[in-house]
Amino acid sequence: MTESIEPSAAKRRSSSRLLASTSVFLKPYLKQIIIASVALVFTAALTLGLVQYVRLIVDRGFVEGSTESLNTAILGFLIVAVLQAIGTFARFYWVSWLGERVTADIRKAVYKHIINLHPGYFEDNLSGEIQSRITTDTTLIQSVIGSSASIALRNLLMMIGGTLFLFITNPKLTSVVLLCIPLVIGPIMFFGRKVRRLSRDSQDEIANVGAYVGESIQQIKTVQAYNQQTHNDGVFSRYVETAFDVAKDRILMRSVLITVVMTLVFAALAVMIWVGGQDVINGRMSAGELTAFVAYAVIVATAVGAISQVISELQRAAGAMERLIELLEAESLIQAPAVPAKLVDTFTGQLDFKSVSFAYPSRPDTLALNEVTLTVRPGESLALVGPSGAGKSTLLDLVLRFYDPISGHLTLDGIDVRDLTPKELRSHIAIVSQQPALFTGSVIDNIRFGRPDASLDEVRAAAESAFASEFIELLPQGYDSFLGEAGVRLSGGQRQRLAIARAILNDPEILLLDEATSALDAESERKVQIALEKLMKGRTSLVIAHRLATVMNVDRIAVLENGRLIATGTHGTLLKDCELYANLAKLQFGGDA
Ligand SMILES: Nc1ncnc2c1ncn2[C@@H]1O[C@H](COP(=O)(O)OP(=O)(O)OP(=O)(O)O)[C@@H](O)[C@H]1O
Ligand SMILES: [Mg+2]
Repeated sequence: MTESIEPSAAKRRSSSRLLASTSVFLKPYLKQIIIASVALVFTAALTLGLVQYVRLIVDRGFVEGSTESLNTAILGFLIVAVLQAIGTFARFYWVSWLGERVTADIRKAVYKHIINLHPGYFEDNLSGEIQSRITTDTTLIQSVIGSSASIALRNLLMMIGGTLFLFITNPKLTSVVLLCIPLVIGPIMFFGRKVRRLSRDSQDEIANVGAYVGESIQQIKTVQAYNQQTHNDGVFSRYVETAFDVAKDRILMRSVLITVVMTLVFAALAVMIWVGGQDVINGRMSAGELTAFVAYAVIVATAVGAISQVISELQRAAGAMERLIELLEAESLIQAPAVPAKLVDTFTGQLDFKSVSFAYPSRPDTLALNEVTLTVRPGESLALVGPSGAGKSTLLDLVLRFYDPISGHLTLDGIDVRDLTPKELRSHIAIVSQQPALFTGSVIDNIRFGRPDASLDEVRAAAESAFASEFIELLPQGYDSFLGEAGVRLSGGQRQRLAIARAILNDPEILLLDEATSALDAESERKVQIALEKLMKGRTSLVIAHRLATVMNVDRIAVLENGRLIATGTHGTLLKDCELYANLAKLQFGGDA
């Protein structure tokens, strides 16, 4: 497992930048935020006001023995209670709504961003890790915006308001409280920061757990065939235990924080009640006042306690937001130009490779393509042959602009592909890749992947041409049959034929076939071959095949070896001119090639 969505210390974001990034997501919901805040302030004020009523009840009703005042006081109390209920409903509903809404927006923004990143990005950053960020990290943020933040805010208000009332009730006693504040804030800040770092680590570990599950389940047959369940189980346990250890450190920090704060708060409370009690005994203060004072003190104490608890929640969410922002800020190496060129209507589909060299970012010293110069004329079909690892698939990746060459140019109708938007470029190309890629869904969903608006008849015609209809019609629900994740319910050859049908339906000007028929039996291969040849007519086609028999009818054959283009020609000329090709042919066709 690599760990390359860099959390390097240098890139750690300051709290203010984090807040700025988060506020971008909050901005559209200003109205809801205002409603929630009003409800928040309103309910906090009511709770504080309620204590005043209690004071009235104690002093006038009980102490002064007046039933009338008691009645008024109780009536007021009831009104406050109803208002409190209304306020609480508004606060709870809108705050939770905000949490869900913002999380949904963040998820959408992150997905929209990463789905456009250059494919090389995903070689370093595991899909499981990214998944975990979009699912679990956003959940943390949701819980913060949807509850912790409002708890923190509410308690902050209670703390400030409570302290204010304490002052009004008895300034002397309140000085005791104020003295304690720095004592409490200190540990909150100190431990809070630690929690944030640990929380990030903990989320990283959980991401590893998820990634491991994903991979081993995708490869379940290989795992079981090699009897590696116990081994996998062991590796998985280690991931889980590491995640647990990090989480343990985190909760230890949290517990220490809460304990320290609570102890300090209650110690201060004890001192206050002691001082206040003296005043009541000496007649400097009424019993109602002391009751109110103690109630406010308890409110303040509880508020501080609650804040110290949610502060670590806030820090966890800050850690999660950091990870999401890293994804949002990842830059695609494949960018559309500021002023894109346009292909003209008389588009012909000529492809020119002009001394194109390329090395994969992870292996900068090995040229996967070395000074390849090659022209594919409009409507020409060209086969790429050569040993495994020669760079054939890489060449197709460059045509689709999944990567850019490190030197040289690749042009389409004379326009550098870097001057076109990737969208326009790719709209003229269809590919059947080496590992036929199917998605969770039905047959029809998969065939019309590139053209979701295609009619059922068009889909049927494409399937017919790809010789796929014969097996599709035998499936339990025909074109609506569900194929499972990545098409697991089909054979390799069937998957290939669906991928071909998808390309046929797309009706592209440029066709890229990478071992498109390698998984078919001789009979189906011959049929599909005929269909493909029909399809290639009039289209610029690049065809990769190991079996030379399948490419003998193309217009021209190019031979690649170690990233170099060593020869081009027809089957006949290459047999004479290219030793590598002649050897390949001899191995495949025997002596009479
Ligand atoms: N994502 C990648 N990162 C780094 N190196 C890669 C990557 N993909 C391919 N390579 C390397 O680039 C070289 C060319 O690979 P490519 O897939 O183009 O070969 P190929 O000619 O299609 O082979 P095959 O016939 O086996 O499909 C190989 O040495 C391969 O190991
Ligand atoms: Mg290949």
